[in-house]
Amino acid sequence: MRNDLLQIQEQTFTSRPRRLRQSPALRRMVRETTLAPENFIYPLFIQEGEDIQQPISAMPGQFRWSLDKLAKRAREIDGLGIPAVILFGIPAEKDAFGSQNYHPYGIIPQAIRTLKDAAPDLLVISDMCFCEYTDHGHCGIINQAEHVHYDTHLPAGYLLNDPTLDLLRRASVVHAEAGADMIAPSGMLDGMVGAIRGALDAYGFQHVSIMSYAVKTASGFYGPFREAAGSTPSFGDRSQYQMDPANRREAMREVALDVAEGADILMVKPALPNLDILSAVREQYDLPTAAYQVSGEYAMLHAAAANGWLDLRRCAMESLTSIKRAGADMIVTYFAEDAVRWLSG
Ligand code: PBG
Repeated sequence: MRNDLLQIQEQTFTSRPRRLRQSPALRRMVRETTLAPENFIYPLFIQEGEDIQQPISAMPGQFRWSLDKLAKRAREIDGLGIPAVILFGIPAEKDAFGSQNYHPYGIIPQAIRTLKDAAPDLLVISDMCFCEYTDHGHCGIINQAEHVHYDTHLPAGYLLNDPTLDLLRRASVVHAEAGADMIAPSGMLDGMVGAIRGALDAYGFQHVSIMSYAVKTASGFYGPFREAAGSTPSFGDRSQYQMDPANRREAMREVALDVAEGADILMVKPALPNLDILSAVREQYDLPTAAYQVSGEYAMLHAAAANGWLDLRRCAMESLTSIKRAGADMIVTYFAEDAVRWLSG
């Protein structure tokens, strides 16, 4: 026995943080951040066709759905206590103006009506962007693309901001007419929130709210989404409208503009790479905040888990908790359904 060598010397500290970590009960009592179903917004991809539940390869467990499968899906999500879905449409036809986005019988207006019918209490958020609808995959009208003849001194390939705002106004009113509860402009165009607010109000949709993608960086983490939504740009990237991930002061300017233009909820995206910005937005503004845990964040965790390198449930819940702790009131996440099941045991 070498007990004599263990020179145990109990000391007296005023504070021993470990005292509060001793038991599961204590740990639960002092936990500062908890997740609940109402924190989540679930993204849904909807495409034309029938009887489709097409897996998205880089996003295990996520699918593209056809309209006829939506009612059942909506009731399942509603039944889990998830309060909201955000919709992405994959139209059958694309053109230079993304006209399927503002067609009253386009895929999303149809989906909104179906969802509202099936689960009236489920909040329907319409992601408002043109990249899924344009033939070149950019988030609006491109200067000197086919059929685009604006008298402008801007270079070819430039995304025309103000003409695109007109289309955003139109599409937002069409989606509101179909029953959308909330519009979520995600194109990072100048003036998009004000333009949409004005159009909604002018057409009697004062009650339809706007969740602005206020800070959205040009991120590599959207990779799997572009496969899911078929929205990869045919030339260039989105850096002429999405923000440089290096810029924090600019992010705060973007937020200030959206607040002034009438945003109801401020979103930061992607979530984990921008926790510092999310936290700053939370501290400086009183509006509700949202964060988008994007496709690449979801894919990374799944890929590592599939290799046996990470525990999926543990790491997904840790990520979601960190996003909430940093200041998100709500989280758009592909883990919504899993998380609710994990939370309930
Ligand atoms: C549309 C849009 C994108 C995402 C949400 N809305 C793609 C993009 O900007 O390229 C990405 C979501 C994700 O990666 O999960 N503009």
